[in-house]
Amino acid sequence: MSSEHRFLKACRREPVDCTPVWMMRQAGRYLEEYRELRAKHSFLEMCRTPELAAEVTVQPLRRFELDAAIIFADILLPLPAMGIDLEFAKGEGPVIGNPVRTADDVAALTPIEPERDVPFLSEAIRMVRRELADRVPLIGFSGAPFTLASYIIEGGGSRNFVDTKTLMYGRPEVWHAFLDKVTEVVIAYLKYQIEAGAQALQLFDSWVGILSPRDYEEYVLPYSTRVFEGIGHSVPTIHFGTDTTTLLELMKQAGGDVIGLDWRVELSQAWELLGHDVAVQGNLDPIVLYADQTVIEERVKRVLDSAGGRPGHIFNLGHGILPTVPVENAGFMIDAVHRLSGCPKE
Ligand code: CP3
Repeated sequence: MSSEHRFLKACRREPVDCTPVWMMRQAGRYLEEYRELRAKHSFLEMCRTPELAAEVTVQPLRRFELDAAIIFADILLPLPAMGIDLEFAKGEGPVIGNPVRTADDVAALTPIEPERDVPFLSEAIRMVRRELADRVPLIGFSGAPFTLASYIIEGGGSRNFVDTKTLMYGRPEVWHAFLDKVTEVVIAYLKYQIEAGAQALQLFDSWVGILSPRDYEEYVLPYSTRVFEGIGHSVPTIHFGTDTTTLLELMKQAGGDVIGLDWRVELSQAWELLGHDVAVQGNLDPIVLYADQTVIEERVKRVLDSAGGRPGHIFNLGHGILPTVPVENAGFMIDAVHRLSGCPKE
């Protein structure tokens, strides 16, 4: 039964036979079989073609003993339906042609209707569920309102988030109207994934660590809270961000059965701070995967020791796996997590 999977049990802080592990960005460019397909199709084409998205989702599961799959998609996929021009420029990541900066820009944004605007996503989820045949659970995801808003305002990635903060501080009423709209999109996008068969959801607030706790409370917390309330409790939820050491308690307050941790915090300390009534996910530095396997093993052990065998730990990297990581090291890490946490031999 799917609720018996160790990943889902760990989300609910139930005891498990050994520590579940998956990797953010596990479907991606560090895999040769991904690059092969990607050479023939653009990134957006891959996301929008259910057969391709489903294939790429299961690629890492053919190689590794992962405890969860994550659907191949992107946090930016709902943007075009809102009226935002999205492109992925070669080697540069996402580029938005008409960034939102003014009250008029916000007023022009439209809500999404997932079955009309992102039908490929539910089809890909159904295909993956069929192919996995309940071997491991499938995670769906969305960007969190802040992180999505920051891309839409900046027009792409950013270092200092100058335009985002300028809007936030200078035109708070426009900021709130904007976040209100983005929040509705996030809720619709996530509910659609649950209906299609996603068995857990991760909310990526990847760049929220750029904010102070007081700014988080005022400009972000109400919206992330609404997302968690809006999607309900039918599947476990993971609330992830980076550089969030000072924001962890507020992120817990916003919601999530599991709080994602990056490598900047000591897992045991972060868990203590959060309280043990919530599960945690993390938090190996992704760069450790470039080191010798003896070092990887030692660092995996450190994370496991920091979690102390307490129910409610999901092993992951502190952020996504990088495209140039040696594949065999990813496999070694996954096996090390299972071996060192006492998995029964297959
Ligand atoms: O985790 C997985 O394997 C599922 C797939 C997934 C992708 N993007 C595929 C992808 C997930 C979970 C995401 C989330 C995502 N997308 C985030 C939040 C996660 C994080 O890293 O914090 C963000 C910020 C995005 C937006 C995005 N998509 C950026 C900034 C980029 C360019 C940077 C990059 O890594 O190239 C993308 C492109 C992207 N999304 C790729 C993949 C596999 C690379 C596309 C390619 O093949 O060229």
